[in-house]
Amino acid sequence: MSSLFDLTGRTALITGSVRGIGYALAEGLAAEGARVIVNSRRQDAVDAALARLQAGGHAALGAAFDVTDEAAVSAAFSRFDEQGIEIDILINNAGIQFRKPMVELELKDWQRVIDTNLTSAFIVGREAAKRMIARGRGGKIINIGSLTSEAGRATVAPYTAAKGGIKMLSRAMAAEWAQFNIQANSIGPGYILTEMNTALIENAEFDAWVKSSNPAQRWGKPEELVGTAVYLASKASSYVNGQIIYVDGGWLSVL
Ligand SMILES: NC(=O)c1ccc[n+]([C@@H]2O[C@H](COP(=O)([O-])OP(=O)(O)OC[C@H]3O[C@@H](n4cnc5c(N)ncnc54)[C@H](OP(=O)(O)O)[C@@H]3O)[C@@H](O)[C@H]2O)c1
Repeated sequence: MSSLFDLTGRTALITGSVRGIGYALAEGLAAEGARVIVNSRRQDAVDAALARLQAGGHAALGAAFDVTDEAAVSAAFSRFDEQGIEIDILINNAGIQFRKPMVELELKDWQRVIDTNLTSAFIVGREAAKRMIARGRGGKIINIGSLTSEAGRATVAPYTAAKGGIKMLSRAMAAEWAQFNIQANSIGPGYILTEMNTALIENAEFDAWVKSSNPAQRWGKPEELVGTAVYLASKASSYVNGQIIYVDGGWLSVL
């Protein structure tokens, strides 16, 4: 790997990284030399992910906290400070899905999805950026968007609103923090084989639609997001800011 993409000496916090896309990104960044911090709401899940990464020879730490809980996020960053852990790369990846026609959708479910998929990126991003700015070495923020950062889909209104918000939050971060050598960009994954999509993967009709509507004619795999994440986490992207890169097998190209 060229030194342009080398992450040796960097510490990366990846939220929601005990499985799925987050775990693949943690493993992928660790493979390029980063020390990674895995996160989820559950300590046992964090411990299990940590054990897998360490068994693979990777430098990894764990931090269980709920990304929607401002006090818990602030406490986690205070613990990082006390332990001398400096976050160079933040990937705001934690997310949930909730499917319901909008006319039946309750406010509490709207709020839960917005809090987890959008507000969390502000809360965690603010804590990370404050410290990146104070240290004066810059940093990298990668916010995980979606195809719904670009395209509306039925029955996922709060998710669509949140992921559209992620694209623009990344631009707001770039607008405020580029002067501090922080690059904030988004990745928009297409349909990826993860637990979040279990019901869709097992639905023959939906599975057939994914394959027929996508020029790649297949679902994506979590590890196929790693290259873009390493690029956006490394000095290879030092003048790339406020962008969203879709990793979708070409799905948006044929809309
Ligand atoms: N899969 C796709 O097709 C797809 C497509 C586009 C975008 N995305 C986005 O990619 C990201 C990862 O999705 P995925 O498919 O890998 O989902 P997943 O397999 O369900 O994983 C979600 C991760 O987020 C964590 N999480 C959820 N709520 C959290 C909270 N409040 N605080 C901390 N961690 C939390 C989960 O851990 P715990 O449950 O243990 O807390 C888990 O580690 C999400 O932002 C998702 O919207 C996915």
